[in-house]
Amino acid sequence: MVNEKKVAIVGCGFVGSSSAFALMQSGLFSEMVLIDVDKNRAEGEALDIAHGMTFAEPMKIYAGDYSDVADAAMIVVTAGAAQKPGETRLDLVNKNVNIFKSIIPEIKKSGFDGILLIVSNPVDVLTYAAIKMSGLPEGHVIGSGTVLDTGRLQQMLGAHVEVDPRDVQAYVMGEHGDSEFVAWSSAQVAGVPLNTFCELHGHLEHEAAEKRIAEDVKNSAYTIIEKKHATYYGVAMAVKRICTAVMRDEQTVLPVSSLMVGEYGLSDLAISMPTVVGRDGVVCRVPVPLNDDEQHELTASAKALKDIIDSVDF
Ligand code: 2OP
Repeated sequence: MVNEKKVAIVGCGFVGSSSAFALMQSGLFSEMVLIDVDKNRAEGEALDIAHGMTFAEPMKIYAGDYSDVADAAMIVVTAGAAQKPGETRLDLVNKNVNIFKSIIPEIKKSGFDGILLIVSNPVDVLTYAAIKMSGLPEGHVIGSGTVLDTGRLQQMLGAHVEVDPRDVQAYVMGEHGDSEFVAWSSAQVAGVPLNTFCELHGHLEHEAAEKRIAEDVKNSAYTIIEKKHATYYGVAMAVKRICTAVMRDEQTVLPVSSLMVGEYGLSDLAISMPTVVGRDGVVCRVPVPLNDDEQHELTASAKALKDIIDSVDF
């Protein structure tokens, strides 16, 4: 029996504990179990977050283990080594696939039958690994993918054209990492093509601005890690947004990472594209039109991921 109000978080580092903090405030769940190899750490985070609940939404928060996840509606996996300054997300692959070999089989053994949200990096490869190791229906395993990158893009474009970032429709697609790209050809503000909207604000150098903003989005994590050694608040809000779409069955379009089954000619890898997300996880994917350059970038991004997947022993 699934408890529709229960979430588990595996990994209580910066990303896991920030996600727990965001979820405590969301009102989506009434029970949250925190799991970490360092049980003390999980206990400390549970206590600290629980002490804020009277100022938000009351709920049960505790440190637990895999015997506590069977009836969770969602599990959020953030465990794994994090990027160090100068490291790419793909550099983490072998370390974190090995960590997943100690986590995902435990989740499977518990009989968990909810939605598994993968956040650890490299998220696309680990989402693929979790699909293979968990035995869950493939649409029930989703990666946070380029949801955060898309949020960063909306925030930067919103500032560029001086509009609420939520009114910018533009997606980062592909790998959550160095080969990601922006689907500029479909970008809009309130139904107006982005370039037309830019011109209303006197921005005429479209190509230069697109290049600069896409680079800033792609390099966001590097910039932040250089300055404060980790990123966690942005991704925690992305986790909360994805959990909301699932638990409220919102059918929200979010660029999560999921298993491709022929979309854009891609299969047998997890990668991000706009996807309708609801209580059943992946409801369907949205075939955003891509121009030739974008299709080329997607193919190259998928190849970079496929090469990594083929080199890893799952
Ligand atoms: C981020 O993009 C590191 O994947 C993390 O902030």
